[in-house]
Amino acid sequence: MSEKHPILKDKCDPESRQRLLALNNSKLHDFVAHYADLCRPDSVYVCDDSPGSVAYIRDQALKLKEEQALALPGHTVHFDGYFDQGRDKEVTKYLLPPDIQLGPRINSIDEEKGFKEIEGLLAGIMAGKQMYVLFFCLGPTFSEFSAPCVQITDSAYVAHSEYILYRPGYEYFKSIGDSRDFFRYVHSAGELKDNVSVNVDQKRIYIDLKENIVFSTNTQYAGNTVGLKKLSLRLAIRKASREAWLAEHMLLMGVKGPGGRVTYVSGAFPSACGKTSTAMCAGESIIGDDIAYLREKDGSCRAANVEAGIFGIIQDVNPKDDPVIWNTLITPGEVIFSNVLTVKGTPYWLGDGRQVPEEGVNFSGKWYRGKKDKNGNPIPHSHKNARYTISLSRLGNLDSRADDPEGVPLSGILFGGRDSDTWVPVQQAFDWEHGVLTMGSSLESETTAATIGQEGVRNFNIMSNLDFLSIPIAQYIRNYLAFGRCLRTPPAIFGVNYFLRNRDGKFLNGMEDKRVWLKWIELAIHGEVKTLSAPTGLLPRHGDLQRLFQDVLNKDYTRDDYVSQFTIRVPENLAKLERISHIYYAQVPNSPQRLFDVFEEQKARLQALRRQHGDYVSPLLLA
Ligand code: GTP
Ligand code: MN
Repeated sequence: MSEKHPILKDKCDPESRQRLLALNNSKLHDFVAHYADLCRPDSVYVCDDSPGSVAYIRDQALKLKEEQALALPGHTVHFDGYFDQGRDKEVTKYLLPPDIQLGPRINSIDEEKGFKEIEGLLAGIMAGKQMYVLFFCLGPTFSEFSAPCVQITDSAYVAHSEYILYRPGYEYFKSIGDSRDFFRYVHSAGELKDNVSVNVDQKRIYIDLKENIVFSTNTQYAGNTVGLKKLSLRLAIRKASREAWLAEHMLLMGVKGPGGRVTYVSGAFPSACGKTSTAMCAGESIIGDDIAYLREKDGSCRAANVEAGIFGIIQDVNPKDDPVIWNTLITPGEVIFSNVLTVKGTPYWLGDGRQVPEEGVNFSGKWYRGKKDKNGNPIPHSHKNARYTISLSRLGNLDSRADDPEGVPLSGILFGGRDSDTWVPVQQAFDWEHGVLTMGSSLESETTAATIGQEGVRNFNIMSNLDFLSIPIAQYIRNYLAFGRCLRTPPAIFGVNYFLRNRDGKFLNGMEDKRVWLKWIELAIHGEVKTLSAPTGLLPRHGDLQRLFQDVLNKDYTRDDYVSQFTIRVPENLAKLERISHIYYAQVPNSPQRLFDVFEEQKARLQALRRQHGDYVSPLLLA
């Protein structure tokens, strides 16, 4: 290697070189050498799975001030730039050869043009910095789910985050020999001032699907930079499509049923719509809160968490709504806080249930009460998208099978978004196809800035995976339908809605109600509750929910509550079918005919119900 790649001999310390050599993989060596040459770091540090490597990265993050130590041991804070506080869809693009098209809903750029641009931006970008090379494994190691990955970055914060969020993969990499099948990521935060990326106009996230490489420049926000997260989901979706499995934006959890039974379900919710909150429900067990791989094995559906940690929204984490995470965030142990407010080593955030401090440091620098941005808008003390990064191993509610190389048997899939006026809080699809088409493929979510009473802007977001699709939408739906056909008993599908409001714009459900829906879903999966047949799916009966509300929340669930929440809103459901059909008709080439047929059937059922009972139909009228 050294002879072939003198650059690595020049830049690597002997230990780093030894680590690269021990991975006898020519594609890997070529990759590291090429980007060491192009990015021109002062040196290259190669990590393995040892505690020494992790400690080195942690120290670097502090030494270089990408993170600052907080009062509690193991706690640090990281700040992203003022304009770098979320995933940036505008500058995230697939590099595509002229003959491949993903449709108008998916952002892309000509392969040659994009590659030239990104290599131009990367040239010399690491001058004066060290380049870190890290190895991880998506999914449990040494399993059918395993996807080996190599990350190049000049950010110790990114590297540190990955050590918390992913399973170590250096040893696993050894086992793949000279395989060419692995994911690659190249990241540089670019030039830094006050520890944040300055060249925001040169922020780019480009995805090369052919080479399985993701490039990310001039950004630090983890959603744009931690290659293994949403960026790898894009690569995985394409790989899954080739290999007939599913790579999904889903939580994965165990729900406890009667007699100690544990039933595994997954759930797809667009960003900021409830994945982490659902996976963390009291009394249940978490496997993952963001990305799951689903595979068919001997006719049954198995699922595994791709990650080993949580990069979670911190807003509203408080002792009442999220006691488990809250406790993790106030006890010593490894936590990276990002974009919160810090006051003398203590982090504060929106909705933490504490008095808002007068001043401190946040994503805008020094912050004081009443501080405004350039446009005169108040700057909140902590960003709405401020986050925490923790290992799942910190949680007392981690499921015992979280690392099972076989995955867990998946019995149910939930689909839900922010929906103020259409879906009932929970309903079961008639079958796999009905669920995939009228729930997953019809998922929408309202923009979160919507204030009470005002309607948010609805965005179509198929399976909550639209932002990450790297195959045409129609192909993705066909894959889902085919996947279900391979299964003896496909998982039951449920549509859920945590965000239903009444006419005055008031939420009809409390945050904790989802705990009851989960229990009902668990029973429905096992056929242990009778259901009511509505045009849109199978609804719970009042008696069952009343009993569950009593058992789970010690609350009385009245008939009035039930009727207001489970009334079938015929006009809204028809309007939704209309909207979604139009999207598929006008914007999705080659949509499966089955989709339109199933929509037509649902429309006919809704119209028949309306003829019988009017626009708003009480569930008490259903059989
Ligand atoms: P990402 O991590 O961005 O993918 O989001 P997520 O899907 O994990 O969302 P999360 O569970 O963190 O929830 C985001 C927001 O939804 C939080 O501000 C919660 O307070 C809010 N939320 C969660 N569940 C409910 C609910 O049942 N009702 C209402 N009204 N809000 C909820
Ligand atoms: Mn989350």
